[in-house]
Amino acid sequence: MTCYYYRKFYYRSYFASPPACAVTSLPQKKYKGETALFVFQNIHRYTLYIAIGYIIILSYDALMSFFKGGDIINGEFGVGVGSLVLCINVVLLSGYTFGCHAFRHLVGGRGDCFSCSAGKEHLGHKAWKQVSRFNSRHMMWAWISMIWVGFTDFYIRMVSMGVFTDYNTWN
Ligand code: FES
Repeated sequence: MTCYYYRKFYYRSYFASPPACAVTSLPQKKYKGETALFVFQNIHRYTLYIAIGYIIILSYDALMSFFKGGDIINGEFGVGVGSLVLCINVVLLSGYTFGCHAFRHLVGGRGDCFSCSAGKEHLGHKAWKQVSRFNSRHMMWAWISMIWVGFTDFYIRMVSMGVFTDYNTWN
């Protein structure tokens, strides 16, 4: 909800503020920006840490799915369609999370001048450039990951209910 891309999306779509680039907003008494009720949008830099926590948990889930019964220590190694679904889920969510504007600021936003460290490239600048690659396609990662999260939940639910068969190497 506080993602910069989704903010652009719903401000335009639902509030028509502004309806599009170079299109004037609907008349309003006084422009207040993200103040008052919308000041909560500032928590985005902290929700990033929660999102990273989810990436770690989902990665562990994906790892467990490669072992029969989810037992990483004693379970037999194998691969199921569900394992692939869970791995793709982590990859897409990582592309979204690690292209976050707040993450980009976190890794490279503290330096005032990247080109000032003469000779060798600033480490923060290197990280910032990598994050920027994901960031430039943040909208794409946002939509694909959101759709895939829904599909992953649906797939797992259907398998757990016995509606879908999870084809795998164990059976
Ligand atoms: S800006 Fe979209 S997740 Fe941070």
